[in-house]
Order: sequence, then structure tokens, then C-alpha cells
Amino acid sequence: MVTLLENPLRVGLQQERVPEPLIMVIFGASGDLTQRKLVPAIYELKREHRLPPETTIVGVARRKWSHDYFREQMREGVEQFSTGIESEELWKDFAQGLYYCSGNIDEPESYQELNSFLEDLDGQRGTRGNRVFYLAVAPKLYKAALKQLGDAGMLKDQMKTRLVIEKPFGKDLSSARSLNRVVQSVCDEKQVYRIDHYLGKETVQNLLVFRFGNAIFEPLWNRQFVDHVQITVAETVGVEDRAGYYEASGALRDMVQNHLMQLLSITAMEPPNALDADSIRTEKTKVLETTHLADVNDLNRSAIRGQYAPGWMNGKQVPGYREEEGVDPNSTTPTFVALKFLCDNWRWKGVPFYLRTGKRLPKKVTEIAIQFREVPLLIFQSAAQQTNPNVLTMRIQPNEGIALRFEAKMPGPELRTRSVDMDFSYGSSGMATSDAYNRLLLDCMLGDQTLFTRADEVEEAWRLLTPALSVWDEYSDPASVPQYEAGTWEPREAEYLMNRDGRRWRRL
Ligand code: BG6
Repeated sequence: MVTLLENPLRVGLQQERVPEPLIMVIFGASGDLTQRKLVPAIYELKREHRLPPETTIVGVARRKWSHDYFREQMREGVEQFSTGIESEELWKDFAQGLYYCSGNIDEPESYQELNSFLEDLDGQRGTRGNRVFYLAVAPKLYKAALKQLGDAGMLKDQMKTRLVIEKPFGKDLSSARSLNRVVQSVCDEKQVYRIDHYLGKETVQNLLVFRFGNAIFEPLWNRQFVDHVQITVAETVGVEDRAGYYEASGALRDMVQNHLMQLLSITAMEPPNALDADSIRTEKTKVLETTHLADVNDLNRSAIRGQYAPGWMNGKQVPGYREEEGVDPNSTTPTFVALKFLCDNWRWKGVPFYLRTGKRLPKKVTEIAIQFREVPLLIFQSAAQQTNPNVLTMRIQPNEGIALRFEAKMPGPELRTRSVDMDFSYGSSGMATSDAYNRLLLDCMLGDQTLFTRADEVEEAWRLLTPALSVWDEYSDPASVPQYEAGTWEPREAEYLMNRDGRRWRRL
């Protein structure tokens, strides 16, 4: 067991700082995200005394709800999805700052009404014109909301107003560019916070500290010592009740373009000049600029898709993707993808980055594994003395932590080796991790963009997926999508992707 002392190197958030009093305006307030994530996260921040008392939330949606009904709905969310109502007094204080304003996303009058409501609230609550506008609506409504906010002049003050946009940011390179143009026509990039909740995960941030706060790993972090990198984001859930969204999205758009690309870029980036938002985001973008699918002319060698077929999960029979409610029985939407990328730069030339993600896999696990090269000379003779290459694993979830696998001699008179782990776990070190949204919402209120994706970064991530997207979107023969049984790991084609290179996916 390794115990880590708190590292003095801090990334982004300065914990002592408290945001300015502000109003967070949430568009899409009657939706799931608001009740499950956003309001519970703000409540937690309040409970932890990280917010000023003036902090106010205004929910906006079409339904005709009263302030009180909105408060009841949010209370249910807090009870279910946060640490719970600690005291009635705290809840009462929090609920006093919750308001609801019904309105139509594409109707100018709704914005005028909202604006005057917000101005009144400034007077009542002391929020001084500071606003965060959070777009938690369906992505197809982003442009309409942006245009109306722009026309109503609600994003004009660059110092006092911010904009948060949920994923997915576009559905391919051209739509992402077009959305970026609209965003930039109504506000400055400095006001924009594109959310990727993976960046709010403690272990993802720890990756930066691990890499740039420790001198001993950096010299090994390159093509000379690293054989390859495997990034896995495995989920046990199926499509759940999101078929409407997922059918048009699939694993590549839903997971790879954002979450896995973030994991890749933080793993591969160069040290930033400083720990400010733009220095870090510039380095991440530079990595993406040099990254490409290993073979764009033969996708079998660089991009494999799959779809879960019926199977068993935890002793229960589950349907295949094409049998799920709301899914086309001939759907070609991938629920699994495996990709091989190369980064053409000095550090990584020739080192493959293998990425895989899927639903209905046997285990929920997210990890980054750096597999080091074999020892240059095998001096041990027999099979019992074979050694395995070292692997450094960053476990993003669950059991967040870091493990280094190395070879050790087994006790006894014979020379036999086995792999052992040197393991650091957040849980057992007493360092509790909090929900990603708590961290991200606080950062946004503080005006720290470090953990949010920049316009060019989002576009680069779309660019490097374009060869796979364009072929898969075009080629709609249901028989062309490999199937894997629910509850098992990747389809065979994804095995071949690795085996062809003389490597294997890690069994987790
Ligand atoms: C979301 C995807 O962004 O991330 C979901 O839309 C996915 O499909 C989820 O299930 C996974 O997030 P986490 O934090 O559970 O790994």
C-alpha cells in the first residue's frame, strides 16, 4: 500500500475561493439533469459552505410550474441524488434561493420576461447582475437559445455573464463548427464553459498532478519506455430509457468524442507552461492535432464497432440493443467501439493508443493503462520465471486510484516470479471524492475554465473521428455491425484489432 501525502501542486480550483454572488439560470429545468445532477450539486456546495448566501437558481422550462412546485421537485432530487437533506434549516435557506420561470426557448418575449425577473431578483437577493446561463436542454435547441440570449443582450457583459453548454457539442465536425460560430457570435470564448463531466472526476484531475507533480514518471512517459496505452470505459448498463437520443448518437459520439478523447489528451499532453486554463487546454489541443486513426483506409485495422446482443447480466436475462424499446430493429448504432490511434509527435511516434468503450459489458470500470516495454533481455529461463511488462494503471472509477504492476520473486528456494501491485486507493487513504458536477459547477461559478473544453479542442476531437463516422453513418447494412453477447467483453473483431499487433486487451 502506498499512501500519498497531499500534493501541494493544485490544478485549477483554488479551494479557499468563494464565487461572487450570482444567479444560475438553468434552461431545461424540468428535465432529468437538473433534478439528478445540477441542483443536488449546488446543494452540496452550499452544504460545504462553498457558496455565498446570495447564490440563486432560476429554473426555466416550458411547463407552467410555480416556484413552490419547482422547489418540491428539486427537494426530491436532493433527497435522492445527494448526501440528503442535512437539516430542515439548511434546506429552507437553500430553497429560498430557488425560483422558476416558465418560458419558450425560441420566443423573444420569454427572454424579456426572464430578464426583468432576473433584474428584480438582483435587487432582492444581491446578485449584482452576475449570471451563469446553463443550457441543459436538448442539443437541437442550443442554437435557438443562444440566438435569443444574444438578441436579448443577456450575454453582453463579458465580465458578469457566463454560458455553460452540455454535451453533445455537435454531432460531427461541421455541426460542431457551426455551433461554435453561433456561440462566438453571441459571446466571447472566455465566457464559454463546455461541460465534459469526465474532467470533473477527481482521478482525471489527479492524472495531471501525477504526471507533472512527480519527477520520477515523466522520464518514462514516452516512446522509449511505453509499449502502448489502453484506455477503457466499460459500462454494465444498456441504453436504458434513452433510445431516442442514443439511436442518433451511439458510442462514438456519446463517449469517445468527449470523455475518451479527454482521457487520451491528458495522458499524452506535454507539460503546460503554467497551470492556467489556456496553457493546459492548448497542450491538450496540440496532442489532438497530431493524433489520427492508425489506418484510415482500412477501418478493420483502426476502428471496430459492435452492438450488444441478448445475454445475461448479474444472473438476469437482458435484451439485445435492437430489441430495446425505441430502437430500430435494424439499427446500426454502435453500443461498443474499439479504436487504435497514433500520435505523430516526438514523444509518442509509433506508440499505439487503444481505446474501447461499450455498454452491457461485464463490469463498470474506467481506467487508463500505460503498458511499458518488456525488459531488454530475458535472463530467466523457464516458463515459471517469465516476467510480464510493467503496467501503470490509473483507475478513474470505481475504486479510484493508481496501481503500478511489477515483477517480484515469490518466496521459496526456487526462482519464481509473479506480478504484484503497488496500489494507491483514494478510498482507503481517507480522501473522499465528490461528484464531478460539484467541482465543475463550482469552477464555472469561480470563472475557472481549466476543466472545460475549448472551441478548437472540441473541433479537433471531432476531426479525428471523422473517417470512422463518415463510413459508419453511410454504411447502413445491419449485418455489418458485429454483435457481442450482453455481459461479455468486446466482439471478436475488436480482439483481432489488438491480436494483429501481438497484443491483448486487458481483462479487467
Ligand atoms: C454520459 C453518456 O456522458 O456518460 C452516458 O451520455 C454514459 O451514455 C455516461 O452512461 C457515463 O458516465 P459515468 O460517469 O457513469 O462513467
